[in-house]
Amino acid sequence: MEEIAVIGSCMVDLIAYTDSIPKAGETLIAKDFAMGCGGKGANQAVAASRLGAPVLMMARVGDDAFADNTLANFEKNGVSTEFVTKVPGVSSGVAPIWVDADSQNRILIIPGANMHLRPADIAAAGERLSKCAMIILQLEIPLETVYAAIDFGNEHGIPVLLNPAPASKDLDIDHACRCDFFVPNETELEILTGMPVGNNDEIAAAASSLLARGLKNLIVTLGDKGTLWMHGEVRQHIAAPSVKAVDTTGAGDAFIGCFAAQMAKGASVEAAIGEAIQYASHSVTGKGTQTSYATAEEFAAFKS
Ligand code: RIB
Ligand code: NA
Repeated sequence: MEEIAVIGSCMVDLIAYTDSIPKAGETLIAKDFAMGCGGKGANQAVAASRLGAPVLMMARVGDDAFADNTLANFEKNGVSTEFVTKVPGVSSGVAPIWVDADSQNRILIIPGANMHLRPADIAAAGERLSKCAMIILQLEIPLETVYAAIDFGNEHGIPVLLNPAPASKDLDIDHACRCDFFVPNETELEILTGMPVGNNDEIAAAASSLLARGLKNLIVTLGDKGTLWMHGEVRQHIAAPSVKAVDTTGAGDAFIGCFAAQMAKGASVEAAIGEAIQYASHSVTGKGTQTSYATAEEFAAFKS
């Protein structure tokens, strides 16, 4: 099987489980705390690798203990770290996260070293990248690097998946539409198109505006409502199984990692989406981001 290349972020997630979020000047006591490896790129890489796909990560980490922890975590999960490099004198990416009583999360990102991943890094890894099955991108690294990766994929005939998260108003939509799979959630779709997304018709209209600009496949993740996949004139809703959510953090990343792994194994887009929804649904039943991602065996047991 060819490698999946994830060109993206690494963060250390500092997760507080709390019934309420403090107001300015207020101190509150939270219920629980967990620290884990995160970052949308790293999460997607680890999910794909746990499902048996060979994964190459391209990222920058800082000059601190978090970096060693991140590298060790990739190795433990079988993700290739040849292109994960340390930036001297800079901190690793960090993400303080609050998970409330309704299991909804709020995330603050301090990108640190992630902003040092440059277009030149893509050129430098060109030989290895040109043999990959798919390139996966998010928006926690510089936009120029994202554009360079899209261009590289297009030039070499490699499918590119862009997860436009966190949504950035600075994203050049026309450039983003040159990817093969654009995978936002509803909020990201709303911010990027400036169109309402209150129901499936509105979501489809916002999605159509991107397809009209040349995008091939738009996959909108809708949380417990599944996904809407639009390509050409086709609009397909794929439902999610009902599960008891404990922590939804990183569910979108679980979806993308699983989707990519399925595509690398030769699945159809529809089948890959179906598996990815189930994988993401399983992830919300466990606390944390990567800590809640199933291995291939655990996932098989969940589905049976
Ligand atoms: O998508 C979830 C991720 O977003 C977290 O792991 C956090 O690090 C942020 O990047
Ligand atoms: Na989870």
